[in-house]
Amino acid sequence: MKGIVLAGGKGSRLNPMTLAVNKHLLPVYDKPMIYYPLSVLMLGGIQDIALISNPEDQHLFQRMFGDGSRLGLHITYFVQEEAKGIPEAFLITQEWLQGDDVCLILGDNIFFGESFGQKLHHAISNLNGATIFTQQVNNPQRFGVACFDENDNIIGLYEKPSEWISNSAITGLYLFDAQVSQFAANTHPSQRGELEIMDVLEQYRQQQRLQHTPLGRGFAWLDAGTAESLLDAGSCIHTIEKMQGLKIACLEELALRQGWCSKQTILQHNSNQSQSAYDVYVQQFLEQLP
Ligand code: DAU
Repeated sequence: MKGIVLAGGKGSRLNPMTLAVNKHLLPVYDKPMIYYPLSVLMLGGIQDIALISNPEDQHLFQRMFGDGSRLGLHITYFVQEEAKGIPEAFLITQEWLQGDDVCLILGDNIFFGESFGQKLHHAISNLNGATIFTQQVNNPQRFGVACFDENDNIIGLYEKPSEWISNSAITGLYLFDAQVSQFAANTHPSQRGELEIMDVLEQYRQQQRLQHTPLGRGFAWLDAGTAESLLDAGSCIHTIEKMQGLKIACLEELALRQGWCSKQTILQHNSNQSQSAYDVYVQQFLEQLP
């Protein structure tokens, strides 16, 4: 399985948050937003990753991660010229995908919860078509939502419904088989001028090959895409990390735990001069290792 992080989007001169910098580079408490979706792919055991960004900021992501090898990853960079919609990710990466299964995660989505790695591995090994991950929310009008029948089959998919239909939000994490590029190519811009991920999912649903994994209570899913949700996400991460003394989305820790890189490689890249809480955590983690 390959992975895609979609981190382009609607940088707008009218939005002070994205005036100077791609929002995925903004910090969510103690690390850049992009670390969180990247950590999810790593948790799923995915090493071959496409990072899609807007042209102006691509070099910043490259400077941050290089080819990914220090974390045991193979990162390939792609450009999305304009935010023409989520399905464009599969058109941009079609050749690179080479017909493999793919996990797509949106660059502003944060996931945190007990046994998430297991859940993800289970969904990846049982993929038959496409899989969405759903979460109960109290503001469904902000998200894509799914409706279910009494047997838990998906009977409807709606993007940001203005009237209440369901509280089951579709999170920005999706698994697809090789047909995704073809289904993405079948989509057309919607009324809001974007290719819609719902139109890709609907094609799988019609083939009865759309599965869903509920994330359940006690699981944190945060979309840090607006000024307010970014602030909420930062305080949420801060509270959990402070309580536990463990970091969420520490990429070095994940890579070492997966056995994808050595202590030496991380040591070479981490300056022990740095006093940032993140770097100190990495140092302390390294010191515990044999
Ligand atoms: O967060 C989950 C939601 O994400 C889903 O419930 C919705 O079904 C899905 O459409 C999406 O809704 P958003 O309104 O949050 O999408 P937004 O346009 O804000 O973009 C989400 C992320 O993807 C953001 O990090 C920017 C990036 N993006 C988006 C588009 C449309 C791109 O890089 N390129 C794009 O063309």
